[in-house]
Amino acid sequence: MKTTISHIKADIGSLPGHTTVFSPVVKEVEEYVKKHSAGLLTDYHISSVGDDLQITMIHHEGVDSPEVHELAWNAFKAGTEVAKKVGLYGAGQDLLKDAFSGNIKGMGPGIAEMDITPRKSEPFIVYMMDKTEPGAFNLPIYKMFADPFNTPGLVIDPNMHEGFRFEIWDIQEAKKIELSSPENQYDILAMIGSKGRYVVKRVYTRESHEKLPDENVAVITTDKLSLIAGEYVGKDDPAAIVRIQSGLPASGESLEAFSHPFLVSGWMRGSFNGPLMPVGLNNAKMTRFDGPPRVVALGFVLKDGKLSGPVDMFDDPAFDGARRTAIDVVDYLRRMGPFEPHRLPDSEMEYTTLPKILETLGPKFVKIEDAPKKAKKLAESTKDFD
Ligand code: F6R
Ligand code: MG
Ligand code: MG
Repeated sequence: MKTTISHIKADIGSLPGHTTVFSPVVKEVEEYVKKHSAGLLTDYHISSVGDDLQITMIHHEGVDSPEVHELAWNAFKAGTEVAKKVGLYGAGQDLLKDAFSGNIKGMGPGIAEMDITPRKSEPFIVYMMDKTEPGAFNLPIYKMFADPFNTPGLVIDPNMHEGFRFEIWDIQEAKKIELSSPENQYDILAMIGSKGRYVVKRVYTRESHEKLPDENVAVITTDKLSLIAGEYVGKDDPAAIVRIQSGLPASGESLEAFSHPFLVSGWMRGSFNGPLMPVGLNNAKMTRFDGPPRVVALGFVLKDGKLSGPVDMFDDPAFDGARRTAIDVVDYLRRMGPFEPHRLPDSEMEYTTLPKILETLGPKFVKIEDAPKKAKKLAESTKDFD
């Protein structure tokens, strides 16, 4: 029977700043889902990373189910009431609309959902990041499903040898493209290196996959809060569901993609590059410089609609090295203060509060009369674009 895994997340208030969720709020959301999910969900799990509350749901309603979306929306609403009562910071922050209107997309929360044909044993990992953006998943998803130095299964396992198909979204132009690895590897990389614009949305197996032909095996939240709200309301801390084993990346091949703390954008005020630090749930609170950006991995097995787990995968000394490197990178970068490339380039500061500061300086600018001829000419020829 077709089964759907839906993961919906939102920041509905945190304490003391954008640091961590508040347990009574988590409890309220959990109680709401428990009370209202009978006959709709076959199972669910509530967790949190930094200031984001995360709901993983299993059901048979298919993706984009109004009932499932509404349940998550109402659970976040109920949690927001508790957050407001105790004065949590940013209570209800990601709930951008007043009333639910059939689909939670574009209303603030992040959504990753996929319809699956469950295998005899259906293991998967939910990755949840805080203080970064959906494009932060481009590199690790590529490594898991396309890089044989990360995933030797691509070389060794006949079911993986054909590679995988990537669905990539251009989130600025609202367009998508499908490209396959290995034959389109360079084209895939030509796009997804620009992680603020091109984001991997889904990964599929090939038709020739013996055990799981043409199946969706990974999905990432791609919601852009700033484009919805028109101003900075927090980076869109993303989440992903990745199915593993048996002709897909092994659990350890999937985790291996996070063994090097690569740089992502987000962190303080959504305006800085910083290393992505893999942590267990116990260390999933955002402290230094509101970070550093973190990723948690929860491992589940699904059978007959029921979840076993989760296993807190990065809660392990095997990732101590990655954490140490991340802190070294933090020390190195922080000494640059507000300078690029620690601070994001202008193009990515557009939806932060910086343009408000620059606007106030506009009237104080005067023309440079003795500017070199060439510069003046250039200014003339580009004045239509000012
Ligand atoms: C980043 C984030 C925080 C805030 C920062 C300032 O995604 O949420 O780093 O941007 O704490 O927050 P405000 O402006 O709310 O005081
Ligand atoms: Mg936040
Ligand atoms: Mg967050």
